[in-house]
Amino acid sequence: MNQNLPYRTLLEVDNVENRIEDLIQQMTLTEKIGQMSQFSGRNGIPHDLRESIQQGKVGSILNEVNTDVLNEIQRIAVEESRLGIPLIVGRDVIHGFQTMFPIPLGQAASWNPEIIEEGARISATEAASVGINWTFAPMVDISRDPRWGRIAECLGEDPYLASILGSAMVKGFQGDDLSHPNSIAACAKHFAGYGYSEAGRDYAYVNISENELRNIVLPPFKACADAGVATFMSAFCDINGIPATGNELLMKQILRKEWDYKGFVVSDWDSVIELIKHGFAENSKEAAFEAIQAGIDMEMASRSYQENSEKLLEEGRINIEQINTCVRNILRIKFELGLFENTYTNTAYFPEKGNASYLQSAKQAAIESCVLLKNDYNTLPLKKDKVQNLAIIGPMADDGYEQMGTWTFDGKEEWCKTPLQSIYEMAGNDINIRYARGLETTRSKNRDGFEEALSIARESDTVVMFMGEEAILSGEAHCRADIDLPGFQNELLEEISKLGKSTILVVMAGRPLTLDKTQHYVNSLMYAWHPGTMGGPAIADLLFGEVAPSGKLPVSFPKMVGQIPIYYNHRNSGRPVINGSFMHIDNIPKRPTQTSLGNTSFHFDAGFDPLYPFGFGLSYTSFYYHSIELSTESISLGDFIEISAELTNTGSVEAVEVAQLYIRDLVGSVTRPVRELKGFQRVHLYPGETKTIIFRLHTDDLSFFDRKMKYVTEPGQFDVWIGGDSRANLKTSFYII
Ligand code: GLC
Repeated sequence: MNQNLPYRTLLEVDNVENRIEDLIQQMTLTEKIGQMSQFSGRNGIPHDLRESIQQGKVGSILNEVNTDVLNEIQRIAVEESRLGIPLIVGRDVIHGFQTMFPIPLGQAASWNPEIIEEGARISATEAASVGINWTFAPMVDISRDPRWGRIAECLGEDPYLASILGSAMVKGFQGDDLSHPNSIAACAKHFAGYGYSEAGRDYAYVNISENELRNIVLPPFKACADAGVATFMSAFCDINGIPATGNELLMKQILRKEWDYKGFVVSDWDSVIELIKHGFAENSKEAAFEAIQAGIDMEMASRSYQENSEKLLEEGRINIEQINTCVRNILRIKFELGLFENTYTNTAYFPEKGNASYLQSAKQAAIESCVLLKNDYNTLPLKKDKVQNLAIIGPMADDGYEQMGTWTFDGKEEWCKTPLQSIYEMAGNDINIRYARGLETTRSKNRDGFEEALSIARESDTVVMFMGEEAILSGEAHCRADIDLPGFQNELLEEISKLGKSTILVVMAGRPLTLDKTQHYVNSLMYAWHPGTMGGPAIADLLFGEVAPSGKLPVSFPKMVGQIPIYYNHRNSGRPVINGSFMHIDNIPKRPTQTSLGNTSFHFDAGFDPLYPFGFGLSYTSFYYHSIELSTESISLGDFIEISAELTNTGSVEAVEVAQLYIRDLVGSVTRPVRELKGFQRVHLYPGETKTIIFRLHTDDLSFFDRKMKYVTEPGQFDVWIGGDSRANLKTSFYII
């Protein structure tokens, strides 16, 4: 480490802010703009990159994971540039680095912040061990449109659930001390509204009311800010005509003024120069102006800051204080990361990547993310003493790469254990197992493999199908207008179902699929999302009842695409659906009468209920919620209230149930959702056991942005439900007076 560096160490200066000022006073404009510039890695250090680093023109690099290259890059920055400022090294460590956890939407189905935090911690440690010190996660966009490929990366449709789970990821990545060797800076993205891309088309424009923005979209970002997330990333999208990367309401008014946020904001890839394509900036110079004006501290990939900042300053369009503020925000995170003191990485100091403990954690996360959606005749769990001949069929049964899912840059396919491998290991000595792929890929429309699949199914008493979507069918820039099982998977399922065998379907996909037709072909249906490295052992344990499923849906499953957007926490409208009353298109009378056109029924052929609702998930046991009680009938602003209920395991196996608390604010100064999740608990129960579950709410927990965009809790009646999903019917009411 070059000891003649200009910035004084932590020992010499009592706090980060003074160290920042110390440094800023010495920096040239070129060096300041350099800190605001993030370049993409180039698999090595080409001469132009080396030169730029030496000249202090690079503040960050992304997509370089070779430790020797990263250490050399840092050495050049520290020892060959004038001020020796280390680089911050970014990577998309979205749901794992080399040990892959379930995709975030799958992790959200665990409703378990502890296991999500543990997974993020492991991912951070693996990434830090190669020299990465910043991840572009958690993605906390709220999404209600499964056509959107990036729903795979988000934490579902509900702001409360996404807030708790997104914060857990931040804590996992950053730990208690950002300067700890295993900690990496997290990044709340994509700020904001990206999940509302029109019609689920990625990068599309977003039309959203400020009410919806503040009451639904922003809470998870605020929760990440409150959890100390080191960075934010601006979204690609145009929000109400103003692209996020040039949006002062988001970046200045809300993030800086209202939230007093002190970290730094990085643009998404090229999103600064994409302001030109949006038609929001005439050229690169105007794009740089708009982004700096909005408060985007660091430009990812594009070079408009490098190319235009000096000219914008000369013209007085921007001022040096704006530049200094961006640089301060960036240096603050670099100092808090301890990069100046611990710049280089020695992989030997870290636990071995992919070790048994990490794999066990990935398996547990996968177990808890799987959601049992259907289980007629208690077909599951499979019993080794009952099943003699088992057919394993489908393109997702034995494909480690595909089960890792989207945003798997560094995942080790060779570490993956597939369901087929795990079922053989678990039951191969007791059961006669046959395997046929049936279809080459999930998109295949070639029936050549059907006969082999049908043949082994005929010879079996039980059939387990593994179908879904390959990883590439979801994630960034991969959206689908038809979200049925792709290819000829339904066709294969239909043929198999004609054999009358006990049939189970395990779906691995990066989004909710429309399964209204599919579900009729099978006795049991389990949703595994893309379960990651240890998806196989997790699914095998669940199929054979080593553990009961506990996952609950973080997003509604539509019956058909025409229902989208469909979500539980909708507002009521002036003609609400009453107990699902609607007139199916087949029943509309030829000559409409007043009643058929009146407000007592609707003509909506898809109906208003999803196929599977938010919060839903079955177990191998049954649960009974009863005896809901309140600590008091009414409270004043500033008070707490407790809502309790008894939960009994009325079945024959021990299991975990995610008990959920929903409220409804019956009358507000703006219309309020018909239900809002405000609490959940994972409750372990032995057969016959009963536990009292208690939820404690403060009146602040019932606040929202009113018609004047003031954050308030309003007096009035609140309905409250406790149950196992968003249709919970164990209900009572209380008043805020
Ligand atoms: C991508 C994504 C963003 C990611 C970034 C860096 O385009 O939108 O989520 O973190 O670029 O890879």
